Amino acid sequence: MLPTIPTFLITITTLFALPATSLLRFSCSQLVVERLDPLVNPGVSGSPHLHQIIGGNAFNISMDPSISPSDKASCTTCTFAEDFSNYWTAVMFFKAKNGTFKRIPIKGNVGFEQSQGGMTVYYSPQTKGAKGTTAFKKGFRMIVGNPTYRTEAQAKQFRQLTYTCLQNANTRSGETLDFPKKPCPAGIMANVRFPTCWDGQNLDSPDHMSHVAYPTTGTFESGGPCPSTHPVQIPQLFYEVIWDTTKFNDKALWPADGSQPFVWSFGDPTGYGNHGDYVFGWKGDALQKAMDANCNINCPQLKTQSITTGNQCSQKQIVNEDLDGWLTELPGGMRVTIK
Ligand SMILES: *[C@@H]1O[C@H](CO)[C@@H](O)[C@H](O)[C@H]1NC(C)=O
Ligand SMILES: *[C@@H]1O[C@H](CO)[C@@H](O)[C@H](O)[C@H]1NC(C)=O
Repeated sequence: MLPTIPTFLITITTLFALPATSLLRFSCSQLVVERLDPLVNPGVSGSPHLHQIIGGNAFNISMDPSISPSDKASCTTCTFAEDFSNYWTAVMFFKAKNGTFKRIPIKGNVGFEQSQGGMTVYYSPQTKGAKGTTAFKKGFRMIVGNPTYRTEAQAKQFRQLTYTCLQNANTRSGETLDFPKKPCPAGIMANVRFPTCWDGQNLDSPDHMSHVAYPTTGTFESGGPCPSTHPVQIPQLFYEVIWDTTKFNDKALWPADGSQPFVWSFGDPTGYGNHGDYVFGWKGDALQKAMDANCNINCPQLKTQSITTGNQCSQKQIVNEDLDGWLTELPGGMRVTIK
């Protein structure tokens, strides 16, 4: 999968200081940047805010949970070729002093530099306790985070939605719940970690969240136990998105009042509304096999494709609107609000 596996593995081991555990880590390039949301606004052409979407090309305005994306899609942007899931987040914009907005490009992560936009995706099996890891089932979907949140107290309800101010591509410390307050020399990494306990019954829930839960104490990483209401241990799903804010690091471009200039497509200038969406779409039991095998980074049990092949999978925007000029308003007319 990667041309320079030895160097890459050394980098990972030393920089991420991972506990002695296993995880899948892979790249998914951009599929489309689009104002659609088949989870929150199914059937609505022009969801309230803009998203960047990765994964299989069965992503659509509505996605019937009884049909697996892996049966509909003909390609995926992910390097694990059996993964036709869709993963999406909001889109970051720079707000200029004159009030116009410019979309921030996304760049590939360490080891995945050729990736056109997109994200790095992780699935970590549970290593604590004897119950093992139950992979997501056909029809499973979930959301973490809340786009209406604007305060630290609200953001803390989600344990691990953060930003890393990248001093260089390898920075992995100093996570904050809000947007970094100073220019970040190598960009801003948005980190989206999902809850790791499932009620074992519902593939979704009205708020797309209550069928999953965090461990009762601590975090997934510290091995906290799942609550009795949500006893099933699911993999930890985790996205890293590297927003290449470097073109906007000149302080002369920043607001005179000392605030930072980045806003989310849902009108959040604080960063506390960070959120991510997931629609499971792995083929058959491929993900369960990978979890059972405790694959680390790469996984011989899974079929792979090159990043270049992943880059070639894409979709046309359904909602036709300009995303790349200096926009007089955020797509969808979303207003910037601090409450
Ligand atoms: C999206 O859904 C429409 C009908 O709702 C269908 O015509 C179209 O082929 C679908 N696109 C993809 C990529 O599945
Ligand atoms: C607004 O500011 C940006 C960044 O300085 C600049 O590129 C753009 O041309 C300006 N637009 C207008 C309408 O002045």
